[in-house]
Amino acid sequence: MNVPVGIITISDRASRGLYEDTGGPALKEAALGYGWRVLGQALVPDDKAEIQNAVRGHIAAGCHLVLTTGGTGIARRDVTPEAVREIASRELPGFGEVMRAVSLNTTPNAILSRGLAVVVDSALVICLPGKPAGAVECLAAVQAAVPHCVALLRETPTSC
Ligand code: MTE
Repeated sequence: MNVPVGIITISDRASRGLYEDTGGPALKEAALGYGWRVLGQALVPDDKAEIQNAVRGHIAAGCHLVLTTGGTGIARRDVTPEAVREIASRELPGFGEVMRAVSLNTTPNAILSRGLAVVVDSALVICLPGKPAGAVECLAAVQAAVPHCVALLRETPTSC
């Protein structure tokens, strides 16, 4: 199914050039592997307004799936869940539940992730952890539900 995707890396340090963004490219590779179409990538600091602008920018560019990586934890600057909730019409708790459940097989620290999925306009926004391997692992855990979810949001439902 045609799933147009936008990817956002959320990291103060990567956005300042202090280290390379490897999470965004890892998610791009995973998305392409699922047969989705990556329309764009962005890199923003842990700032609510910048995160919201990046999400809205991808949606305005035609993305019906936005993947974010980073800022889901409990550090003072981690604001990704708050940023996306403020612009969301709905939250889809099943995504966060599955991502944490799967990640607990990798690390007990997965319980610290506040990863989630929300609906913004007619797009699904999935917020994944910052560690590239964790982001890819969490996406793998939920990807099977993405095409149907996106089709419902685009009002072109597939069969359940
Ligand atoms: N999930 C998976 N699958 N693998 C991981 O290594 N790291 C955890 C968690 N989820 C991790 C994971 C850790 S250590 C933290 S602090 C949280 O994700 C939040 O990460 P973030 O703030 O970089 O988004």
